[in-house]
Amino acid sequence: MSRRRVYLETFGCQMNELDSELVAGQLRTLGYSFTPEAGDADVVLYNTCSVREHAEQKVWSRLGELKEEKRRRPGLVVGVLGCLAEREGEDLIRRMPVVDVLCGPGELDKLPALLDNAVRTRESLMADEPDDDRLRSARQLALQGNTSRRSATLAAAGDSLELLDLSRSTAATGDDGPVRKSAYVRITRGCNKFCTYCVVPFTRGAEVHRPPQHIIDECKRLADAGVVEITLLGQTVNHYRFEHGAAVTVGGVVQPQKGRSYQGGHRRDPFAGESVTTFAGLLARIHEEVPHLARLRFVTSYPRDFGDDVLEVIRDHPRICRYLHVPAQSGSDRLLGLMNRGYSVGEYLEFLDRARAHLDRPEEGRPLMISGDFIVGFPTESDEDFAATVSLLEKARYKNSFIFKYSPRPGTVAIGKFEDDVPEAVKRRRNNELLAAQAAISSAIGAEQVGRRFEVMVEGLSVREQKRRRGPSCDTQGGVTLTVGGRVPSACGGGVSHAEEDAVESRESTPQMSARTDSDMIVLFDLPAGESPDAWVGRLVPVRITSATALSLHATLDR
Ligand code: 5AD
Ligand code: SF4
Repeated sequence: MSRRRVYLETFGCQMNELDSELVAGQLRTLGYSFTPEAGDADVVLYNTCSVREHAEQKVWSRLGELKEEKRRRPGLVVGVLGCLAEREGEDLIRRMPVVDVLCGPGELDKLPALLDNAVRTRESLMADEPDDDRLRSARQLALQGNTSRRSATLAAAGDSLELLDLSRSTAATGDDGPVRKSAYVRITRGCNKFCTYCVVPFTRGAEVHRPPQHIIDECKRLADAGVVEITLLGQTVNHYRFEHGAAVTVGGVVQPQKGRSYQGGHRRDPFAGESVTTFAGLLARIHEEVPHLARLRFVTSYPRDFGDDVLEVIRDHPRICRYLHVPAQSGSDRLLGLMNRGYSVGEYLEFLDRARAHLDRPEEGRPLMISGDFIVGFPTESDEDFAATVSLLEKARYKNSFIFKYSPRPGTVAIGKFEDDVPEAVKRRRNNELLAAQAAISSAIGAEQVGRRFEVMVEGLSVREQKRRRGPSCDTQGGVTLTVGGRVPSACGGGVSHAEEDAVESRESTPQMSARTDSDMIVLFDLPAGESPDAWVGRLVPVRITSATALSLHATLDR
């Protein structure tokens, strides 16, 4: 039989993008190939996001669309992976009987076997006269349910999800594109913060930290394969901490470690050194041990617990990017309390001051840029609370912000405790006001860059150029979705941000390229005549900024 074709669509955050990439790598080794068209596929997989209801609705509607397709092609296998699968469990199948495979984000190491089983079983059933009961019994499920927070050490069972991360070959090439120049590497999974609005601690489970050597080896392999930039991933990436004395090996594999309550103190981890690899220590080791990696970045930082040790390592290691994504969520201390964020506005601003004092060096071409997340319309948010949020956004001077309307999520503390009492129209108005405040700041920051020189990493054709080449009708990659092989330029989950949409008019003759400074500013420039865009991807080139529109900077090559 010919290679089975998979259509894999990813919704949501960078963590999901990485999960999809790793799952795709495993499926390739089992002989599956990938197609960008669901209509051509033998297997359709959706890797889902549950952070806001809107993200879930997209998946429900995709599944709804598959009903008819499956009636026509009963051999089609449909899988739902990720946070929605975990959160809904078997209810999802009851609501959407088209689904054959469910796999939570904590169980993705099992997906290849589950899927292979489902495909083979369905094929053999289809060869007979299949009836609904037999097809239903072929369903495959892997959900962690509430077992993920049991107190036993992970090591007791062996953390098989670590094997998924370890399975990465180099993952530097896709099925369908040129060699990738940017890659994600996970350093922690899960989250222990339990912000009251958030499903992540329930869907992704407890925080665990990968062994540092696994992370460094992965970075080395990727850099050897031509990756220029690595982004380390964690929900609270700066909590990374691995105690070597407590390391456990199962089946020859050093196991990830459960995150303890953060012991590093506000400023510095007193145990850092030989016996404990802290986040600062990990950054320094990657920088030193992977010298051929041009750029090292990380997301997402938790505003508390960010020690001076980390800031010093960034300052002293030139290939670590000057970019921090540090969500504040609200500028009202009262709401931060209700959200269980664990810091005050004053503490948050103190952190930004400290970070800028260490790292903001615009005169050297290395400004520190900060981006944030905000939730508007959290229960009980008053005009006064919202005014405090606008004021924080202005004081913080973010490069860009991801702004979300509060969305009550099943299973969270907030949905049980607080009524969703801010009317939709008010949420929308506040959302727009905050966006407008951010746009003004983004424009001012952009204008400050004019005349400056930067080294930028070329990422590819600008969005505008891509649209121009594809024609107006097939814009499939904006916002929250991508298929394997694609890239999404923004942070988690489709918040409204300023990207390069306001690019200058593209020209017929010289393709417009998109690049980034190490502080994550998007820079657009025209290729010299006769150059091939592909040959420029991944290059680090000097540019001079000539003009700015919101956060798209326009530049000329500076040689
Ligand atoms: N409603 C709205 N926004 C949310 N986020 C997380 N949970 C919710 C929710 N229930 C936002 C936060 C977070 C980002 C990834 O998504 O701002 O930082
Ligand atoms: Fe969710 Fe808070 Fe954890 Fe971020 S820190 S993933 S918002 S619980």
